[in-house]
Formats: sequence, C-alpha cells, structure tokens
Amino acid sequence: MSVKSTTQGKQVTLHNGDPMLPLSGVCIAANQVTTHIINADCAIALKALPAMSVDLVMTSPPYADQRKHTYGGIPADQYVAWFLPIADELYRVLKPKGSFILNIKERVVNGERHTYVMDLIIAMRKRGWLWTEDYIWHKCNAYPGKWPNRFRDAWERCVHFTKAREFAMHQEAVMVPMGDWQYARLNSLRKADHVRQESRTNSGFGKNTENWIGRKMAYPTNVLHLATECRNKGHSAVFPESLPEWFIRLFTKVGDTVLDPFMGSGTTLRVAHRLGLHSIGIELLAAYCDAAAAQIEKKCICKAKESSTSRSFPSSKNRVCRSKNP
Ligand SMILES: C[S@@+](CC[C@H](N)C(=O)[O-])C[C@H]1O[C@@H](n2cnc3c(N)ncnc32)[C@H](O)[C@@H]1O
Repeated sequence: MSVKSTTQGKQVTLHNGDPMLPLSGVCIAANQVTTHIINADCAIALKALPAMSVDLVMTSPPYADQRKHTYGGIPADQYVAWFLPIADELYRVLKPKGSFILNIKERVVNGERHTYVMDLIIAMRKRGWLWTEDYIWHKCNAYPGKWPNRFRDAWERCVHFTKAREFAMHQEAVMVPMGDWQYARLNSLRKADHVRQESRTNSGFGKNTENWIGRKMAYPTNVLHLATECRNKGHSAVFPESLPEWFIRLFTKVGDTVLDPFMGSGTTLRVAHRLGLHSIGIELLAAYCDAAAAQIEKKCICKAKESSTSRSFPSSKNRVCRSKNP
C-alpha cells in the first residue's frame, strides 16, 4: 500500500511519532517505510528535525560553485562558513552511534585545488565531529579527456564523520570475494604464514595469513571501485545508486532512518526505500523534489512490497566495477 500526502503547512510526524515542524514537501508511506521529501534550504529545514533521530547522513553537497549554472553554489572561499551551521544541525539530528558520509571533492580554482574540503574537516573537528575515515570513490569508468596540467579526475572523497569512536558498523554486509590472489598466495604458504606476524614497524597491526585459508569472502578496502551513473536522471551531478547503497549496508539496518540534506534527484532516498529504510531528503529546487517523488512512487513501491517482510537487506543488483580487494 502506498500513501502520498503533501505536507504544506501541516504538522508532520516521523515514522516513530517524533514531530517535525510544518514544511513544504511530500511524504510517501509504503509497506511501513516512510520517505519524506522537503523542498527547502537545508540550513533552515534541518532545524525542524528532532534531535538524535537519524542513523545515517549520506549526502553530496555542491562542490563549491562548480555547477553554478545548473543549481547554484557557494564560492570556495566562503564554503566553510556556509557549511558549518549545516554541519552543526547534522550533528544535532544524528544519533550518538550514527555516521555522516560527505561525498565531496576539492574543485580547481585559479589552476590549483582549493583547500575548502580540508579546511572544512578541520573546522568540523573543532565543533566536535570525529574525522573517522576517508573512503575513496574510484570512478572506474571516468570519461577520457586531456588537460594541460593534470589527468582526468577519477576519484572523490567520501569523508566519514562520527560523533563517537564506537558507532554502528556492519562490516559483514559489505564483504567482497577473496579474489584470485588466494590461489597463488595461500597455496604456497611459508613457515612464517602459520603464526601471527606482528608489524615490523611496530604499528600494532599484524596478520596470520593461514587464517584466510578456505574463506571465500574478505573485508573490503576503503577504496570503492564504482562506475558513475551514465543514464540521464534529470540532474547534472547524480551519484550512482551503488555509492549510497554501500554505506547504507555498512552503517544501518532495516528500519533505520537515512537523511540526505542535498537530495538532488533523490538517489539516496530511492536506495533507502528499496532496502527498507525510512528516509528524509531536503532539496532547494522544487523541480528535483517533484522528479524524486515521482520516481520513488513509480519504481520503489513494488520492490518495497517484496522486501517488507525480510529482516535483512535485499541483495544488490547495482553495477559495481570489479574490485581489486583485498
Ligand atoms: C551534488 S547535488 C546532489 C546530487 C544527488 N546526490 C543525486 O544523486 O542526485 C547537490 C544538490 O544540492 C542542492 N542544494 C544546494 N544548496 C542547497 C541547500 N542549501 N539546501 C538544500 N539543497 C541544496 C542542489 O540543488 C543540488 O540538487
């Protein structure tokens, strides 16, 4: 069953009964999964969300003013001052064990990479965020090109912020096949491979190669080899579904809530809906909100029906490049 309602001027509640302030947007409820799409500036709309109500923030904001001709943007020099109040609100709405994934990249200004991403990370740490990890999204189908002073850009950051050192993380949900290396390496074990070897640099890391015999799956690295979205989604800067899907599988479970404050075409919300999670998307431009709502209505409700009784995520059907892990 699907219920779509506009939320203009009404008191809206989240799936768990927490109240949100009245906001303009739509709410789609299907098979116990609620998708809220809010047409607003996230700096304002985030204030309407209850504290500690979100398990994962997954988002890709404007990369400064790189796309000022399509959906606007912020000059690189003003980026940190613009983003910090938003980051403060994200901190407030995130649960204590939640994660914030910021997909971003330093744009080139006057012939060199601007430092706004690094400046932002440093500023956010001063506001209480932990810079827990940097995942690299390797865009393995990057379009060929020629530039006079650098090569084609084939990677972006996915900066992982948390509020605490202990946070929800389901590592088994993103395991990858062991790969061919096991045949060569594990079939010719040396004497030293049968006992734990401590790092020679005293880093505290060690390994026992023998432990991996007979295993089919390994933990992935922090480099994600994912193809970019090539189909036209009516938006100039979509990320592929496989990107939010990987982080949703890693940091949430069925029934959790995902927030994308720079929703764009609604990629994060579509994936959340398909995987059985509640989601909230905030987007400045009304046309993107309408398109995202229509897509979720059209494509996701049947899949949600299939998965609504399952306690685990439906399996992935996304295009993922061949991984070089481990
Ligand atoms: C990089 S795009 C996000 C694309 C999205 N990940 C997708 O897959 O479609 C950034 C989006 O943020 C929106 N935006 C910019 N400033 C905003 C603000 N202050 N509040 C909400 N949305 C904003 C833009 O209109 C744009 O659609």
